[in-house]
Amino acid sequence: MKTTLIKSLSLVILAICYISCNKGMDSLQVDSPDGTNRVEFNLSTSGQPYYMVKHNNNAVIDTSYMSFDFKDLPSLKDKFKIINTSTGTVDETWQMPWGEQLDVRNNYNELIVNLEEQSEAKRKLNIHFKVFNDGVGFRYEFPKQDNLKDILITDENTQFNLTGDHKVWWIPGDWDSYEHLYNETKFSEIDAMAKNDDQLAANYIPENAVNTPVTMKTDDGLYLSFHEANLTNYAGMTLKVDTKDLNMVSELVGSDILGGKAKVSIPFNTPWRTIQIGEKAGDLIESRMILNLNEPNKIGDVSYFTPMKYVGIWWEMHIGKSTWDLEGTQDMSTFIAGKKGSSRHGANTENAKKYIDFASQNGIKGLLVEGWNTGWDKWISNDREGVFDFMTPYPDYNFDEVMAYAKEKGVEVIMHHETSAAPLTYEKQMDVAYDFMKANGINSVKTGYVGKIIPKGEYHHGQWMVNHYQKVLEEAAKKKIAVNAHEPIKDTGKRRTYPNAISREGLRGQEFNAWAKDGGNPPSHLPTVAFTRMLSGPIDFTPGVFNIKFDDYKKGNQVNTTLAQQLALYVVIYSPIQMACDLPEHYMVNGKIHPAFQFITDVGVDWQQTKVLDGEVGDYVTIARQERGTGNWFVGGITDENARTESLTFDFLDEGKTYSAIIYKDGPNAHWNDNPQDYTIEHLELTRNSNLKIKLAPGGGFAISIKQ
Ligand code: NOJ
Ligand code: CA
Repeated sequence: MKTTLIKSLSLVILAICYISCNKGMDSLQVDSPDGTNRVEFNLSTSGQPYYMVKHNNNAVIDTSYMSFDFKDLPSLKDKFKIINTSTGTVDETWQMPWGEQLDVRNNYNELIVNLEEQSEAKRKLNIHFKVFNDGVGFRYEFPKQDNLKDILITDENTQFNLTGDHKVWWIPGDWDSYEHLYNETKFSEIDAMAKNDDQLAANYIPENAVNTPVTMKTDDGLYLSFHEANLTNYAGMTLKVDTKDLNMVSELVGSDILGGKAKVSIPFNTPWRTIQIGEKAGDLIESRMILNLNEPNKIGDVSYFTPMKYVGIWWEMHIGKSTWDLEGTQDMSTFIAGKKGSSRHGANTENAKKYIDFASQNGIKGLLVEGWNTGWDKWISNDREGVFDFMTPYPDYNFDEVMAYAKEKGVEVIMHHETSAAPLTYEKQMDVAYDFMKANGINSVKTGYVGKIIPKGEYHHGQWMVNHYQKVLEEAAKKKIAVNAHEPIKDTGKRRTYPNAISREGLRGQEFNAWAKDGGNPPSHLPTVAFTRMLSGPIDFTPGVFNIKFDDYKKGNQVNTTLAQQLALYVVIYSPIQMACDLPEHYMVNGKIHPAFQFITDVGVDWQQTKVLDGEVGDYVTIARQERGTGNWFVGGITDENARTESLTFDFLDEGKTYSAIIYKDGPNAHWNDNPQDYTIEHLELTRNSNLKIKLAPGGGFAISIKQ
């Protein structure tokens, strides 16, 4: 890995200066390298730390206080004195082994404030700010000290005091699931408590809080997104909203067992609290600040994982064509445990071979098989400990035969480990299960955590589970295995440190279109996801449904986009693994591959660079990505329920070159509900000076492949 690094960290007060402050003391101040963003830090008259954030001299975060509450110890709140400060500048470029772009510039000015309590205990706390051109990150650092050792944090109180009643795209601060629809409201209208969702296998919303990333637009047209980076050995952060004072405060996910939020031993650093700031909506997507706030790669070479497209025995269970378990008692299409059905086991040898044939004939590298192993008959039951076995196939699935057939056809099998939210059962088997994978040449695993966490009292996003997900990444890395987690902890950019964390769910994915009682994801879902959930990292959304209404299986459900939008998602929604999720037979027309499948065959999965060409949160977005290795470009655009015309220019193409392009777009009568499968394919030549106007149908989209 090539890294150029210019680093100057010094105790000399350089980028930092003191400005006058009406609270009586001088504020410390640190600016972003381009001078647009500024953090000001100070202590109140009672000695409590607070900060402010400005963009072009306008406050975006007003005076916001910071403190901690502990079990059996006084709060760490006020009576502080600044005993030292240090500043520095970093400007380095690092490379992503796979990603949205190859080279990432990490450029910021930093300020570390060392605080000490003016009390007998003289407890110490450092607050570390990094100010980037695209936002601000800060964390608390508890240095080694005599009077603070093992602590149980009952509350971290980091305020984010907003400067207006912004427009917000939010999901509730659920401790167990991020699989909610986004709401678009004024900040003062956020009502997370009204969003309990009975479709979720696990869900707990204790108060009016939101999960992160949460994205906002100010009346001045500035875009803000709040999240966290490098969530390690700590609880996930939700943000409690005060709709009257337009204030948010960190609310860590709890644990009934721990009786607090996070148990840590000092020295300890919290995750970074992050505020991304953009003048265009697309700036948020192009920002790599969250990754830059994570540590460099700790696990070395990850070339055992190759970015790829994959098919799978998956969608057919979600639409109810087949089942995960042998007897057909667990039917996800109705989401009802214990319903007796006929045996329609999807993961059988013959079916796996059918998918392998399809993949090898159509340029798809991977195959996922869900329901191959024993345990599925009890997976939604209350007693889920010890249910799954990660080595024993069902009798109709000849594991060795499938593996040999896949090898012969050049298809790579992806392992599936549904844990049914029983992490201890998984941890017991992890070692042998990973050895079993490697012995069979399998390099990646999709994990799943459906249901309430066992033991009862722990939550998907609490410290205990954060540590479990971390353990999975570390154990997998030791065995050279890449992980795609479903029902995960949110991404906080740890793929920089652990690039075997390839993708994850952590949102309302495609599966909801198959069985959700509310009709699935509305057309505005993905134009919102691109500016919210996607800011945290790769998404295993599983696009590519061609049989949009699947009436043969579920009359009451459908995908609420056009077919052309399904193609666009391969570019718009970033993941180094992208599923072509529909059934092989749905990709065939009169015995031949569907003409639009050519785009899925062609589209890249690993990018040299990414450019957001246009977009507005919740409405539409157009992204161009250049493939690594080939230099080919792919453009995807999607819209919500409104039709629109996108004007495209191509100044990202090389000077003097003529490219051959194929445009896949909505047909003249396309509409996500009335006529979702109407599409048009057009071939043309493009240069850097070309411009195009493309019409997107309601719920529609377009995809372009541009080859040299
Ligand atoms: C939920 C996951 O999101 C989905 O992809 C998977 O098929 C089921 N759980 C079963 O593991
Ligand atoms: Ca899920």
